[in-house]
Amino acid sequence: MSQQGQDDRLFTTAVQRNREPILKVLEQVLPAAGTVLEIASGTGEHGAYFAPRFSNLTWQPSDANTDMHKSILAWAKTEAPLMKPPLALDAAADTWPIEQAAAIVCINMIHISPWRSCLGLMAGAGRILEAGGILYLYGPYKINGEHYAESNAAFDQSLRSRDPEWGVRNLDDVIEVAQKEGLQFQQYIEMPANNLSVIFAKAN
Ligand SMILES: C[S@@+](CC[C@H](N)C(=O)[O-])C[C@H]1O[C@@H](n2cnc3c(N)ncnc32)[C@H](O)[C@@H]1O
Repeated sequence: MSQQGQDDRLFTTAVQRNREPILKVLEQVLPAAGTVLEIASGTGEHGAYFAPRFSNLTWQPSDANTDMHKSILAWAKTEAPLMKPPLALDAAADTWPIEQAAAIVCINMIHISPWRSCLGLMAGAGRILEAGGILYLYGPYKINGEHYAESNAAFDQSLRSRDPEWGVRNLDDVIEVAQKEGLQFQQYIEMPANNLSVIFAKAN
């Protein structure tokens, strides 16, 4: 992560690479209207890129780490004036500071956080998503318990050495937790750099 220029905006090269492929999927799956809650917004670059491209939707960024909020606000100021100010939202918490959303977007979080964050994400999505609402996840996964790329196996190792509670998740485990919370698995889409877009919908 690096900082450029005179303001508080933080930049990551990963976002520069993945935002356009993610946008193409979001264009297919996001609803026509309502609030999109972005969980683990990080620097805020994704929200600032997506929010102006979905002018019919209200983009609500958030991150558990409030140190990131300055960057999110700076991105909003320069690129996305209609994006909401960030919420302090810990996916693992029992209550969230928002009661309803038409969609939830969570990019590169569940492997860089303890498993309880995935459990909390699914419980929270089950609580606040409107009927038919979409949960969109992006990141690397194991399929049938196996890495499908060498680079993902190496990434998994490096994550676990940084924190034993982190790690690339098995897609079937994520789907099982989602189903328990009333979220139906819709599909996964292969993305660049061995990542997946994974889409769930709240049961009607
Ligand atoms: C690798 S960054 C990804 C940020 C951004 N989505 C992106 O793709 O650039 C992971 C982010 O997840 C956030 N995070 C980790 N655990 C979380 C949790 N339980 N609830 C909310 N945010 C969390 C961190 O603060 C960090 O900003």
